[in-house]
Amino acid sequence: MRILVINGANLGLLGKREPAIYGTVSLKEIQRRLKKKFPRVRFTFVQTNSEGTIVDHLNKAFDGGIDGVVINPGAYAHYSYAIRNAIAALSIPVVEAHISNVHAREEWRRHSVIAAVCSGVVGGFGAMTYELAVRFLVEREK
Ligand code: DQA
Repeated sequence: MRILVINGANLGLLGKREPAIYGTVSLKEIQRRLKKKFPRVRFTFVQTNSEGTIVDHLNKAFDGGIDGVVINPGAYAHYSYAIRNAIAALSIPVVEAHISNVHAREEWRRHSVIAAVCSGVVGGFGAMTYELAVRFLVEREK
């Protein structure tokens, strides 16, 4: 199984950025844990601050070779219709993931423009959020 894990804006700073909210685990460590926990999954990890690059990677998944996507777009989740459209174009499952519990924070974070075109949303569980999202892709009923 091949899974694409996309992290968007500012998530390259995980572990250092606002640790009270996002924890102290780096993105590299999250990726290491995923590989260890799911040794049979072939992961592609992408982190970019650019909205267009996220769309490019989602479009690439459209051409095949990927069985599922986990995406934490960062703040783009709240307003990027381009990312929403790119997800809507895919026929493979896509899980929206957030490290923090966006519903317990500012009002503007409570709305996601991508949630409606994803298979599901997982958030608020820190670094473990990604493992829960991947677990759905691996174990879901087809
Ligand atoms: C986030 C939540 C977003 O609201 C925020 O803009 C982020 C990180 C999260 O993982 O909790 O950059 O996606």
